[in-house]
Amino acid sequence: MIGYGTDIETISILGGHGKTGEPESVERVDFNMGDVVSIVGHTGSGKTTLINDIELFANADTPTGRRLLINDAPPPEEFRHNPARNPIALITQHTTFLSDLPVDEFLTTHAQIRSDAPQLAAQLVERTLAFANQLTGEPILVKSRMTELSGGQTRALLIADATILCNTPIILLDEVENAGIHRSRALELLREYRKIFIFVTHDPRIALLSDYRVVMKAGSIDKVIHTDADEQRLAVHVTRLDNILSDLRDQLRLGERVNGRAWEELK
Ligand SMILES: Nc1ncnc2c1ncn2[C@@H]1O[C@H](COP(=O)(O)OP(=O)(O)O)[C@@H](O)[C@H]1O
Ligand SMILES: [Mg+2]
Repeated sequence: MIGYGTDIETISILGGHGKTGEPESVERVDFNMGDVVSIVGHTGSGKTTLINDIELFANADTPTGRRLLINDAPPPEEFRHNPARNPIALITQHTTFLSDLPVDEFLTTHAQIRSDAPQLAAQLVERTLAFANQLTGEPILVKSRMTELSGGQTRALLIADATILCNTPIILLDEVENAGIHRSRALELLREYRKIFIFVTHDPRIALLSDYRVVMKAGSIDKVIHTDADEQRLAVHVTRLDNILSDLRDQLRLGERVNGRAWEELK
């Protein structure tokens, strides 16, 4: 089995500066194992840049001057240079598979890297596929070629691959919500794994279901807001509203007539 060499407990960002060069108001943010975090802020506020700093193990060598610590120390060089040891997976709207193998062959090849016991590898593949199929509404057929998958299926498979097959401890997701992923379900499922999940998101549901959110402004980390009990309660209603809207969207897409049932349910 691949291990990451270090048991990661915390990753920390030491603040650098915003777009105009002023020091960030938040000097340090700690992400602990098990945390589900959102990064929020206007378009252009620096959300992608922040998670890129994490993925790059920034060491005052990116445009923001930020530094990353793992367990309170500079990350081992190996993390940067050895892909098999890299504890961070970044999934974006543009991430695709470089392989054109059928899904089952790709996953099997991947699983064999983690376990040379064929039975264990087969179990891993099965769990990964089942997980992916719970994340997306469009079932992934094992014989489909990787390049034929839809956006939602690709994202679901990438998330499942990072979470289960690679067992990556830190998973960064940059605005994957528009890609046909069941969001509340995804968060519920991901919470069963003790990892650090960081979502760049405009989705109120993901933000409110997170433990806390990092607010970006003009390239700077402006503040960190912990989700309080009121917000957690609100998340339940937001989820209902959102489900009703996506049902409506599906009905319209399928050429059906919509009725007032959803609205009645809401009252
Ligand atoms: N701290 C910073 N210092 C310098 N440039 C920054 C900083 N943060 C973001 N930028 C730049 O601002 C632009 C928008 O940032 P980006 O991270 O893409 O925003 P978002 O993902 O929130 O839309 C990018 O060109 C990025 O390089
Ligand atoms: Mg962005």
